[in-house]
Amino acid sequence: ASVLVLNGPNLGRLGSREPDVYGSGTLDDLRSILEADAPDGTTIDLRQTNDEAELISWLYEAVDSGTPVILNPAAFTHYSYALRDAAALVPKAGLALVEVHISNPHAREAFRHTSVISGVATGVIAGFGFDSYRLALTAITRLD
Ligand code: DQA
Repeated sequence: ASVLVLNGPNLGRLGSREPDVYGSGTLDDLRSILEADAPDGTTIDLRQTNDEAELISWLYEAVDSGTPVILNPAAFTHYSYALRDAAALVPKAGLALVEVHISNPHAREAFRHTSVISGVATGVIAGFGFDSYRLALTAITRLD
């Protein structure tokens, strides 16, 4: 089994981007952490894109391959109805879709208080740094 860990815009800059908000770990560090946590036989497929269309195509891929998703939609969280509509297909296909955030968007600027994704997610985890992803992986494992 495999888990898709999809990351939206600007998350490729983790490590150097606003370390006070997002910590000093990179996406490669995150991949290693999740691979270490993953149960035997579970593959972590971690990807990042700045491109909304690519993120949408990866959600289709999850549906077509029957793969659960951990999704950090980054700034798309707050306004992308196209991403929401694609994300909605994942739980409709009987697959977990866990929305994660490194920071707690509710404790930040007002525009971050709205998520257009949460209403279609299986669940949401925010505010725990890279542990948000680890908790999401645990949740997916327990749902299986
Ligand atoms: C984020 C929070 C978003 O508001 C922001 O645009 C991001 C990262 C997080 O992981 O805390 O890029 O999704």
